[in-house]
Amino acid sequence: MRQSAVPDNPRRRRLGWTGTEAIGRAWRRADPERSVGERPTVPFIKRRRLVMISHILSKSTFSRQDIIDLLSARDPAEVEAIRNAAYRVLVDNCGTKVYLRGLVEFSNRCACNCYYCGIRKGNVEVKRYTLTKDEIVGAARFCAEAGYGSMVLQSGERRDERFVSFVEDAVRAIKRETISNALPRGLGITLSVGEQTPDVYRRFFDAGAHRYLLRIETSSPRLFTSIHPSRQSFEARLACLASLKDAGFQVGTGVIIGLPGQTVEDLADDVLFFRAIDADMIGMGPYIVHKQTPMASHDEAMAARKKDTLEFALRMIAVTRLVCRDVNIASTTALQAMEPLGREMGLLYGANVVMPQVTPQRVRRDYQLYEGKPCLDENAQQCRACLCGRIRSLGREPASGEWGDPRHFDARQRHAAIQQ
Ligand code: 5AD
Repeated sequence: MRQSAVPDNPRRRRLGWTGTEAIGRAWRRADPERSVGERPTVPFIKRRRLVMISHILSKSTFSRQDIIDLLSARDPAEVEAIRNAAYRVLVDNCGTKVYLRGLVEFSNRCACNCYYCGIRKGNVEVKRYTLTKDEIVGAARFCAEAGYGSMVLQSGERRDERFVSFVEDAVRAIKRETISNALPRGLGITLSVGEQTPDVYRRFFDAGAHRYLLRIETSSPRLFTSIHPSRQSFEARLACLASLKDAGFQVGTGVIIGLPGQTVEDLADDVLFFRAIDADMIGMGPYIVHKQTPMASHDEAMAARKKDTLEFALRMIAVTRLVCRDVNIASTTALQAMEPLGREMGLLYGANVVMPQVTPQRVRRDYQLYEGKPCLDENAQQCRACLCGRIRSLGREPASGEWGDPRHFDARQRHAAIQQ
């Protein structure tokens, strides 16, 4: 039976576990007098499940069923065991530093109509904007001076030549303006501007961007189709991820967690997908309804399962860390939108990247992919102080002036060199 990512069966919700039969067998083994119909007591189930979770965590590779079982864990002791294991993998493979990428949402003009997204083309209530190149370079200078080391340029998706050459120019200008003794290669630049042709990806790379984020949104073709119009295809998204790698980028992908109809099996397949495509970076966050979208009707249902979705999102971070080990994982703004301390929680569950806001305040409100976006009224300086304080409060150190490339990328390059 498929278990919904947010189960509606109260018994399952309490147990939150797929190994019920195995526990029943253990219960009868513990006392052969017990009849088949007799149910194990709750303390017995809890003890057994913790043993099973610990057994899974002791493995070095995880099966699909292992991943499903880890993602299904709900008992606080089990979740804490998973979080601890993920944190150890983080420290062993990536260290404890948190890498900062200043986020500039430089345009909300979008040619796409994703059903979940607040800046979709069909949302006529959004005031559209595109920052000037000077504003983008100004934000980049701020990042360099603030010690962020890297920045992310994100926008709605457009494929016209005007847009492509604008991005290319902006990347070149940022590189030119941010080279210094502290940053001899200039700021590290991550692009997040959607699906483009292989030729455009090469142009962006040649201009100086070296990382690219393109979420698959869900690794289930069925779900992908249910949240996108027919002109956006799962296959095209996959092809883009392959082209990005061919162009030389460090490639980031990710999914939305808690989509209507998404199951825990789908989420397990998402984790396996990250591993299969050998992603260097992962960014995931909970689905948050935007009222001016075709998916607004899910608002009440989503509100009712908010806590569940947040907990799934955190377990997804931990399990992705366990499976993908040396990748960079972002603790996303959507986590914070859902829960004020969400980003800190993401870091405690195995994330090692945070993207402080550097979008000029005057347009921040116009870039709302979902409702409840935080940090709308703080300026970039305030965001920096607040974020660094929050990171330090966790006993972690914000990296300063470092690109903070994922170790996975180096390993991938070395492996490719050996293969040649
Ligand atoms: N809830 C959560 N995440 C969203 N995104 C877009 N809209 C939403 C939403 N309503 C995410 C998508 C996209 C990224 C830029 O933002 O995953 O790839």
